[in-house]
Amino acid sequence: MPQKAIAIASDHAGFDVKEEIKTLLLNSGYDVADLGTDGSASVDYPDFANAVAEALANGTAQRGVLICGTGIGISIAANRHRHVRAARCCDATDARLAREHNDANVLVLGSRTSGLETARDCVRMFLNTAFEGGRHQRRIDKLA
Ligand code: RB5
Repeated sequence: MPQKAIAIASDHAGFDVKEEIKTLLLNSGYDVADLGTDGSASVDYPDFANAVAEALANGTAQRGVLICGTGIGISIAANRHRHVRAARCCDATDARLAREHNDANVLVLGSRTSGLETARDCVRMFLNTAFEGGRHQRRIDKLA
């Protein structure tokens, strides 16, 4: 995997998966900024989406990974930030196309809807796939 800093965060529902994905990232040589949560106590997913959005904005990280129970709430929250393109991915094909076509900068996973091996596959694909540019850049420009 290329060298980049990754900001990772989850709510309580995604905590266990976050820990597993953090291990994968560290073992792959990435710098990882773990922005919480730090246990199973109930928390609110927008707070963690906002933390990853801030890390991307201030240059702490170039990519983000967010996890909640379904991945839905935390992706809605993340995409309220104009500089974030968060893609909830259910398999490696989603992750590949999110990079190739959407230049997604945040991968979102659902801990209750995706198995751990699938989540790991999504992370590897997301971090190793380049944006195709061209007609896709024109479409992304229209998002702004
Ligand atoms: C928490 O119970 C759950 O609602 C949250 O993790 C997420 O699935 C929301 O979209």
